[in-house]
Amino acid sequence: MERVVFLCSGNTCRSPLAAAILRARRPDADILSAGLAALEGSPAAEAARAVARERGLDLEGHRAQNAYSELFSGGTIGLAMTRRLADEARRRFPDAADRIFSLGAYAGSPDQDVGDPIGQGDAEYRIVANQVADLLREAEARTGWLYLQTVGIGSDHAGLILKREVLAALRQEGIPARDYGTDSAESCDYPDFAQAVGHAVASGEVGAGVLICGTGIGMSIAANKILGVRAALAGEGLAAELARRHNDANILCLGSRLTGPELAREAALRFLRSSFEGGRHARRVAKISAMDLDNR
Ligand code: RB5
Repeated sequence: MERVVFLCSGNTCRSPLAAAILRARRPDADILSAGLAALEGSPAAEAARAVARERGLDLEGHRAQNAYSELFSGGTIGLAMTRRLADEARRRFPDAADRIFSLGAYAGSPDQDVGDPIGQGDAEYRIVANQVADLLREAEARTGWLYLQTVGIGSDHAGLILKREVLAALRQEGIPARDYGTDSAESCDYPDFAQAVGHAVASGEVGAGVLICGTGIGMSIAANKILGVRAALAGEGLAAELARRHNDANILCLGSRLTGPELAREAALRFLRSSFEGGRHARRVAKISAMDLDNR
């Protein structure tokens, strides 16, 4: 499971409130908060506790902590309350820089900061809590089923340039991505990267994958050998979306010699933002999974 860390300065009002609000919506996820200049051990501000209580949340046991690099291990996503705090966190934790965003940017409103209500009355804290809840809802609508999850992406030499285009589009949209290589134009073997991303998806290290080779065919054949992977070769938006909605595909394969950058970007975003519909499709996907087990 992925982890989210909300970041503010003192870790006594904005970030613990944000963490409590999201925890209530996603009890399955590991949701933390931390400061960049916290007085460690301080309780949440009185007004933050009061506003939390009004929303049925509990900040009584909260104690402030400062962010540290292990907090960002694995696929952890950092969501800072302002652009300035996001910049500061990226500077301090460079290994996680591509997974740290301002909450506004993550929600698709890059100019929106969540201001510091410290020292102000309950009304200002209420405004902050509402703003955070709105931004979280927008982020959820925007990033869809992947809400908190990192995307694993890989290519061979033939898919390298298209992979960079797709990666840039994901980052622009605030979707965290981890690149499993290749990172050079030197000739290499696509099954190596299909295996790396396939295992990352099957183990839950990432929420979904994108694999790119010359045609996408080699990647899809190789990735589908891994138990738990459902890789779909879908070089345009509708096919990519239906691969999620109907087939519960967890890896999208693209062919750089068949699909141009614009279509590839659209296919990747529609794939990642669509959800499995279940119902009659669940019965069919269960039959595919049973075949996986039969063939073990
Ligand atoms: C590499 O030349 C090419 O064979 C590979 O990228 C892919 O198309 C395989 O399916």
